[in-house]
Amino acid sequence: MKTAADRRNKVKFPVDTLFLFAFSGESSPAGKWDVIDGKLKAKFSRAAKAEGFTGKEREVFSFHPADGKPAQRVVVAGLGERKKFNAEQIRRSAGFAGPKVKVSKSIHVLLPLEQRLSVESGEQAQAMYEGLALALYQFDRYKSSRSKGKGLESVRVLSETDSQKNQIKAGLDRGAVFSNATMLARDLVNEPPSSATPRWLAKEAVKTAKKSLTVKVYDEKKIKQMRMGAIEGVSIGSDEPARFVHMTYKSPGAKKTISIVGKGITFDSGGLCLKPAGGMLNMKGDMGGAAAVVGIMSALPALKPKVNVHGIFAASENMPGPLAYKTRDVVKARNGKTIEVINTDAEGRLILADALSYASELKPDEIIDLATLTGAIVVALGDDISGVFTNNQGLADRLINAGHQTGEKVWQMPLEDDYKDMIRSDVADMKNTGGRYGGSITAALLLREFVSKGISWAHIDIAGPALRDNQSGYRSAGGTGFIVRTMLRYLQSR
Ligand code: BES
Ligand code: MN
Ligand code: ZN
Repeated sequence: MKTAADRRNKVKFPVDTLFLFAFSGESSPAGKWDVIDGKLKAKFSRAAKAEGFTGKEREVFSFHPADGKPAQRVVVAGLGERKKFNAEQIRRSAGFAGPKVKVSKSIHVLLPLEQRLSVESGEQAQAMYEGLALALYQFDRYKSSRSKGKGLESVRVLSETDSQKNQIKAGLDRGAVFSNATMLARDLVNEPPSSATPRWLAKEAVKTAKKSLTVKVYDEKKIKQMRMGAIEGVSIGSDEPARFVHMTYKSPGAKKTISIVGKGITFDSGGLCLKPAGGMLNMKGDMGGAAAVVGIMSALPALKPKVNVHGIFAASENMPGPLAYKTRDVVKARNGKTIEVINTDAEGRLILADALSYASELKPDEIIDLATLTGAIVVALGDDISGVFTNNQGLADRLINAGHQTGEKVWQMPLEDDYKDMIRSDVADMKNTGGRYGGSITAALLLREFVSKGISWAHIDIAGPALRDNQSGYRSAGGTGFIVRTMLRYLQSR
């Protein structure tokens, strides 16, 4: 999708397709439409009435003005209430308009750029682009007939002044970087599990790093040598060897270093504590955290945030097999702490134990881990909301705030010290499950044991929103790439 920002008075009307936004209950679209075509208001009202369009969120309609002016075709997306206006409203409207917009090859967009609307033009352009691009995403590698080269090719956004034009262009460029990173994470999650093995995921990370990032891949022998006994325990039941991946982005003059750690279980069968069929169905998506790490890292060379970033993930399958780790086995993580295995299906916290130990040794200022860790968080927060646990309130506040801006919901959960008793073990330093109640909290408490003292740490459990059953606007069915955009925002703000 090619993008551009155009001064409105330099555009030759009529154009092919004009894409407009309208608030609910208002008699004309938002923004400077009147100068384009004095009769547009009347044409819009007539068409809106005929279509029953009222401007509510999710409403979209298109019409062909009889005189072909100011465009052959006009698409209008509902924004919902004017007083609730924010960037997410534009992102969502653009997302819901995706199916109507994509029948055009080229569109001109008139954003609701009004003085009294507090969202800056570049922000609006970024949100609009993300909404469209993410809604048009398709994972069709495995379809025998694919639509080739069709669809939306050019998006041009109208501006009034040169400075606005520059802001819009910058916003569109950011939108492309954010969307591409998200779609990379989606692709990695959507790849079928027998293809998306730990070795494959490591290769994808290497491909992503290209020349702009450094990357190290540790194989199963190296993992053993590095005394990562927890990853070894989880992976040993599978014929597919584990991989440990460390990507690095360096920013000249950076004052802070942030490590992002992902859970990369490429298939979670539950191991010997085998999941029932229904519970296993979506477990190719258990590498959503690692996929997010790769997506995030892919964007950094273009985005150039002023922090150093380590992107780290452990990749493994969790399978039953003759050598599989067993209940009551004890594994020893890289930092020397031992864990008694109560349930082989609580494998994510095990591989993260080694990954967090490794990340701690790099002495970053902050560690943020991303993991499809527990079913319990889905019970607590549902499909749309992730849970954040932290030892540093400022860090959680910043992540939650970044989520407000991207439309990705992050809700804080308690890291309750009193529940530590639940993971006490008689034979090891801790056990890997604490029972059904408070399951996402006891999982977070275990992770905390592997973060060195003095490092700010946040754990984001993305088990709910990382995967969806159906598409809703810009949020795709299958892998969603959830948390990638929030983390990019977060890194930009540091
Ligand atoms: N990968 C799952 C968590 C999960 C569940 C992710 C649903 C996405 C959707 C994790 O490894 C797991 O199996 N957790 C168990 C822990 C239990 C055995 C203590 C769970 O949540 O049931
Ligand atoms: Mn599991
Ligand atoms: Zn898992």
